[in-house]
Amino acid sequence: MIPHDPNRQQIDPRHLVSKGSERELYQLIVGTGYVPDDQNFSDFCESLKSGRAWLISGTRGSGKTAFPEALASACNLSMCVVAGRDGLKQEEILYDWDREEQEVWMRESLTIARELPAEDRAAFLESARKKKWQKEFLILGEVGLAYELAARAADLNTPPPVLLLDESDKFGASIEDSLLMPLERGLIYIPRFDGGFVGIADRSLRPIVITTSNDLRNKLSSPFVSRHVFSSFATPSLEKELEILAARNPHATSSQLALSIKLLDAVRGIAGLEDHPSIRESIDMSSAFNRDSICDLDTRTLRRYLCHFVKSASAQSLLRLQDDYLISSAIAYHPIVDDWLGARDPEWAGKWGLSLSAETLI
Ligand SMILES: Nc1ncnc2c1ncn2[C@@H]1O[C@H](COP(=O)(O)OP(=O)(O)OP(=O)(O)O)[C@@H](O)[C@H]1O
Ligand SMILES: [Mg+2]
Repeated sequence: MIPHDPNRQQIDPRHLVSKGSERELYQLIVGTGYVPDDQNFSDFCESLKSGRAWLISGTRGSGKTAFPEALASACNLSMCVVAGRDGLKQEEILYDWDREEQEVWMRESLTIARELPAEDRAAFLESARKKKWQKEFLILGEVGLAYELAARAADLNTPPPVLLLDESDKFGASIEDSLLMPLERGLIYIPRFDGGFVGIADRSLRPIVITTSNDLRNKLSSPFVSRHVFSSFATPSLEKELEILAARNPHATSSQLALSIKLLDAVRGIAGLEDHPSIRESIDMSSAFNRDSICDLDTRTLRRYLCHFVKSASAQSLLRLQDDYLISSAIAYHPIVDDWLGARDPEWAGKWGLSLSAETLI
């Protein structure tokens, strides 16, 4: 669990959206450098309002994991994380009993019982055996902890934690099944536990659950999927991608932003390339251009940076044949990219002879 910062104010995102302040939440998230897609953000707000978990599917590097991280940081919420992998066990993520401590407890109780008058012994031992199943012997996994924290937060009237179920396509059927009850009821029933369950049934107080999937390893079961509100993260529009690049690399110049986005846009358009560069690669590209003060592109420079966005031998040979096309695309005027940059940077607008927008002139 990544705890919230006790010295910073916490904000309840559910509270914000339920009073109609979605834009405020959007701006808080943007303040962390994460720029959500409008449709995805609207889906997320629906999941908050309904109290349902939010399932995000999408290609690698499209910002699935970064969204809940940005949310937790923007609102200063604690975050519990389960990272999907083969062989994940229910007891790791939900709960387990601390058997060693339970044994020690029973051994100590037996020693005490021996000293007691015979008529008190049976009642004492019966009570000791019951206490073996108390909360102090319960070890909560990240999911159990998130539901427990939400219940505690409800008592204290503080915001609930975020629970990130990352790469859920690697969980496998038994983990998915074990999550059906908490996702539906908000409760984790624990056999023998003297409290019966951990969690909170009230949907408006449950943890904010965000589940991600690359749809690669296993197909998620339909009962698991149906307990979520669903969004698909696609490659954003060029304008949105520019916004993201500028937010992630605030020191990058217009020419570095233009070079990286035009280059990757051209790469994405090449027929025969199986694995297209995602946001992850375009952020890396503009940050490398910024780091190395690159503001022009030639064959040598292009080949130096190819390793950031071409990640197989066959794609490398394919792109090497396209050097000239890629360079000319990266330095040519692009209406969407250059108009967007020109509206924010008068020097850039001057370079391309663009008329400045009213927004810029003010
Ligand atoms: N909308 C966005 N705004 C700002 N940064 C973003 C955005 N989308 C992605 N990123 C950045 O791109 C990188 C990749 O994002 P992330 O790790 O969340 O991708 P992912 O979808 O979880 O990929 P994978 O499936 O490989 O785990 C991160 O550095 C992240 O901050
Ligand atoms: Mg991820």
